[in-house]
Amino acid sequence: MNMYVKGRVLITGGTSGLGLELVKLFLRRGFDVVATGRRKAEISECESRFTFYRVDFSDLAATAKVFGHIFEAYNFDYMVYNAGILSPPDYRVTKDGFEYTFQINFLSHFLVNGLVIRHHPPDRPLRIVSVTSLAYRYAEPDFKHFGEAADYSAWKAYSNSKYYLVLMCRNFSRELAGTRMRFYSYDPGVFGSELYRTQKGIFRRIYQTGVKVLRKPAVPAGILTELLADPDLINGALYDVKKRIRKFTEPETDLTERFWQAVQVETAKFLQSQ
Ligand SMILES: NC(=O)c1ccc[n+]([C@@H]2O[C@H](COP(=O)([O-])OP(=O)(O)OC[C@H]3O[C@@H](n4cnc5c(N)ncnc54)[C@H](OP(=O)(O)O)[C@@H]3O)[C@@H](O)[C@H]2O)c1
Repeated sequence: MNMYVKGRVLITGGTSGLGLELVKLFLRRGFDVVATGRRKAEISECESRFTFYRVDFSDLAATAKVFGHIFEAYNFDYMVYNAGILSPPDYRVTKDGFEYTFQINFLSHFLVNGLVIRHHPPDRPLRIVSVTSLAYRYAEPDFKHFGEAADYSAWKAYSNSKYYLVLMCRNFSRELAGTRMRFYSYDPGVFGSELYRTQKGIFRRIYQTGVKVLRKPAVPAGILTELLADPDLINGALYDVKKRIRKFTEPETDLTERFWQAVQVETAKFLQSQ
């Protein structure tokens, strides 16, 4: 695969930060770009190759409907599961009853992944990247798919959601090894973005100030596009901004099998509706 060959890419969360930079980079390189988000992405160049779908990941039925349309209309060469939030300080549930971070960062992407598997021709190459975070290393996965207010910790919710994304990518890299779909995770390091929006009080103010001195999101975006162009990427691997493969310890299979069954049950009705 060569970055300079035109193709089509889907980016979730393409309205700010890393996702918006990815949108711009791929457009400049001649790709057709489809992006999603709740706000409208501000794109001033190559607009004719840009398509935007508004969708809120806190609503699984709406998410399934929008992505069902997208996958009916297009086949992709690359997809980036980038949409994400920093966990809010207080416990919050989505319309579907899941802890908010779990659904936005992980479960909605699990659903999108199920939909693309249904639609994508298995003999057509497709590279899918899940954007994780350094936080996955500090995860304490409990493999509970419904959170509980009493157990809530914002840091744990965020790190666990990023851990589940990596695990999802590794699982599908094995499960679909016989197809031409390939799965990778990417830890973009720390950079300035609008990720602080979900925070409150002093932490929000510190982050808002710090953003100005942090690395620009164009840097990790550029590195990700270079990685995607590398023909030797390893299926299932987790890469960092130095393009190194990071270690990831897989949990006991019993635990994860029950977890995958549970999330499959939770998303099945939305898959069937498409
Ligand atoms: N910034 C960092 O230092 C850092 C470090 C490690 C990993 N990351 C990861 O990088 C990814 C991009 O984050 P960023 O830092 O670029 O933050 P950002 O500027 O806040 O971008 C987040 C994107 O996710 C979308 N999003 C958020 N909530 C959504 C929802 N309910 N439904 C649909 N889309 C939603 C946003 O779009 P709308 O608001 O338009 O919906 C936005 O486009 C995230 O997965 C984040 O966890 C960031």
